[in-house]
Amino acid sequence: MSVVVTQRVHEAQLDRLRSAGLDVVGPLADGPPPRAELLAAARGAGALLTLLTDRVDAELLDAAPSLRVVANVAVGYDNIDVAGAAARGVLVTNTPGVLTEATADLAMGLLLAVARRIPEADAAVRDGRFPPWGLFQELIGLDVAGARLGIVGLGRIGRAVARRAALGFGMHVLYAGGAPDPSDAWAGGAEAVGFEELLARADFVSLHAPLTPATRHLVDEAALRAMQPGAVLVNTARGPLVDEAALARALSGGRIAGAGLDVFEREPEVEAALLASRRAVLTPHLGSATARTRLRMCATAVDNVLAVAAGSVPPNLVAHR
Ligand code: DGY
Repeated sequence: MSVVVTQRVHEAQLDRLRSAGLDVVGPLADGPPPRAELLAAARGAGALLTLLTDRVDAELLDAAPSLRVVANVAVGYDNIDVAGAAARGVLVTNTPGVLTEATADLAMGLLLAVARRIPEADAAVRDGRFPPWGLFQELIGLDVAGARLGIVGLGRIGRAVARRAALGFGMHVLYAGGAPDPSDAWAGGAEAVGFEELLARADFVSLHAPLTPATRHLVDEAALRAMQPGAVLVNTARGPLVDEAALARALSGGRIAGAGLDVFEREPEVEAALLASRRAVLTPHLGSATARTRLRMCATAVDNVLAVAAGSVPPNLVAHR
């Protein structure tokens, strides 16, 4: 079987494919490959090893008549036409689990950075503007301990954030969608609520839902209006969950206190008004960006390809919804 590797991945993981007798084609590029090159390479592919910046659509699937599996090196798979793949008998796999803790760390990092205004404070010190210490000084922030955290989508990553928030920071957890595991030590104090109630009560709202047609612009103008005045939004899931233009308006109008965003509607483009907002802390899709996590993601995707090549059900098969 030929495995087309769209972008640069860990060489030792490609060696695992070669050792199993698979023919590795690529990496095609150190970034998203030119479309024509990708379509041409896909012609003989039995497997595609893709990153989340590769669009696997009907055109690409049609260009790959021998394709058996698309192994995405990501837990999210909104870059893949899963229904189209299923219709053509092509399996789709992802990399759940291995990036949970790293992504939860970043979500908490953004929450704290917004609440305590860390980037603004850092910039002030570097600019030689060390605000005089005073009870009403510049850069007064928001309390995290004891605040209410609303988690939208209590899956693996949402639960890992809830654990940090409740056990580490003494936050009260509300959640909409998903459920705790029976073993979750923090879950006793957590409350299951509807999305509207979560927006109305949470001081911090953190998004952990997958991007689907139903969740696109889940946080729109109305949702932002429903949030507590002075609340903070954190998004480490997928950019299109949030109507970015509406968010920029809510921030500039002081409707909410801030936003910590790792993902954007049109990556790598970022709404200009967000770039200009002091109230937004922005990171460039770094949720899983630690060396060990990225290696584990790559290894997991390779495990999936090897399973398909061996005629087994891959461990991380994505169900067509
Ligand atoms: C994923 O795996 O879906 C993450 O967004 C990668 O950082």
